[in-house]
Amino acid sequence: KTQSFKGMLSGRLKISVASTGKYVMPYYLKDFLKVNQGIDLLMDVTNKTKVVESLANNEVDFALVSVLPEKLDIEQEILLPNKLVLTASKNYEFDKNGLLNKAVFDELPLIYREEGSGTRTVMQEYFQQAHIVPKVRFELTSSEAVKQAVMAGLGFSIQSILSLKNELKEGEIQIIRVEGLPLIENWRLIWLKQKKLSIVAREFLKYIQLHKDNIFSENFAWTAHF
Ligand code: PGA
Repeated sequence: KTQSFKGMLSGRLKISVASTGKYVMPYYLKDFLKVNQGIDLLMDVTNKTKVVESLANNEVDFALVSVLPEKLDIEQEILLPNKLVLTASKNYEFDKNGLLNKAVFDELPLIYREEGSGTRTVMQEYFQQAHIVPKVRFELTSSEAVKQAVMAGLGFSIQSILSLKNELKEGEIQIIRVEGLPLIENWRLIWLKQKKLSIVAREFLKYIQLHKDNIFSENFAWTAHF
């Protein structure tokens, strides 16, 4: 059990997370912060490109991304898989038992994330490899904004299953099964190889290494079904 972790650290922990990371990071921080009440947490939520920038500028201890930065010399700790699925509003009618051909993307109006988003990059790679030119209808600047737009019926998108937990439970969003999906990446905690980690950062890393499997099975086991 993660609760058994003991310590009394104080200081600042700075983490920059990509947009969907906000559905992940709190669960990997909860018990560590509970035990170490003297730690100030600063968590910035943006997109992959900005996250990597703050890491490169040495503004943060860690970053949480699924798509790895290409140019930085980093270390990483893989936390959990990130599965990206095609989402539709609850009112969209389709064959729920079937696996759709990817030609479906010739028809569906898509909602894209902004330039710089890791999710967007992964989507674009999928379309490129499938020789599909998708109908991009809108561009929105966060995973939550995309989700609300899909729910409102503005279009379809490819989104991380991690951001959809409650909406799937409430039946507000549907997943359309299409060949080649889900796209699977990993969420990873990354840090600069040459960075001198603070005591707080080092202890946090130790805590993660020790407890990440428990944290996954307690909070994210439901994602295995997709
Ligand atoms: P983003 O996050 O789409 O918000 O950039 C995903 C990632 O880092 O891959």
